[in-house]
Amino acid sequence: MITGGSGFVGRAVVRAFVERGLPVTVVDSNPVPEPLRGELVTHVAGALGDASVREAAVAEGAAGIVHLAAITSVLRSVDRPAETYAANVALTQELLELARTRGIGRFVLASTNAVVGDIGRGTISEEVPLKPLTPYGATKAACEMLLSGYAGAYGLAASALRFTNVYGPGMARKDSFIPRLMRAAVSGEGVEIYGDGSQRRDFVHLDDVVRAILAAWDKQYAGTAIIGSGRSVSVLELVDAVRTATGRPLPVTHVPAKNGEMPAVIVDIARAQRELGYQPEVGLAEGLRGVWEDFRAA
Ligand SMILES: NC(=O)c1ccc[n+]([C@@H]2O[C@H](COP(=O)([O-])OP(=O)(O)OC[C@H]3O[C@@H](n4cnc5c(N)ncnc54)[C@H](O)[C@@H]3O)[C@@H](O)[C@H]2O)c1
Repeated sequence: MITGGSGFVGRAVVRAFVERGLPVTVVDSNPVPEPLRGELVTHVAGALGDASVREAAVAEGAAGIVHLAAITSVLRSVDRPAETYAANVALTQELLELARTRGIGRFVLASTNAVVGDIGRGTISEEVPLKPLTPYGATKAACEMLLSGYAGAYGLAASALRFTNVYGPGMARKDSFIPRLMRAAVSGEGVEIYGDGSQRRDFVHLDDVVRAILAAWDKQYAGTAIIGSGRSVSVLELVDAVRTATGRPLPVTHVPAKNGEMPAVIVDIARAQRELGYQPEVGLAEGLRGVWEDFRAA
């Protein structure tokens, strides 16, 4: 069962399970896009906050749950912390409980490196203490703790995978930095950069994220692992890489940095490599070319 299976990451995960010939139940308030509809995909339409939707989605005998549905916007979480708690934490608890009572053995959660907050220009590993600085990060940290409790007490193979910035085809409607750059490239406009653009970020390709989810699933992994490219780039380097991928000039304007803008997200992916056999395969230049093709087609 895949929550958020109609979303950006979810669509790619659903496709990967279907390609393995496995039946998938998608629970999402948005429709499943046409190419994914077929006899292997069942859609339970509705909000996960509705108990009847959850009951219908989590079938006895399901092999596992990949839980991707969440309030994913940091800004929205800051505006609406209580709603974010309900959507991210309370719902995860409800799903874990359904997994326990229905004998479902695996649970993969999409988490984030925002659980550790700002550690300056240091390298984020799973050993860094949790100190989220936003409701979004706090709810994901809370979810990780719930998973840990269910793994410890009931033997659930509960994996928390902390993705860095995910990019790839299918993000035309997203508001993150790469789609904004791509839209600017399409329209011939420029982009705003917060601060001097020296802040570093780790961009991980959607295909690598899907491989990590499948590895956690296959290994019935109980633990937490960071899933990134392992190579951070500055925002200015990213803009240059997008210029190369698109062949467009992409003029930039610098605007004051926003409060809470992290100076760096630099991650250590050694644990995922060791424990999941994870190895990022898509380089940034190649990945951006694919996103550009997708934007032009859209
Ligand atoms: N995209 C990233 O860069 C990134 C990075 C780190 C972590 N994550 C996490 O990965 C997961 C997937 O992210 P995404 O980028 O695919 O997000 P997305 O917004 O594209 O997809 C989320 C999907 O979940 C559905 N959904 C959300 N709440 C729901 C609810 N209560 N009931 C029913 N459906 C609901 C939405 O309709 C949407 O289709 C999220 O948990 C997010 O926090 C994403």
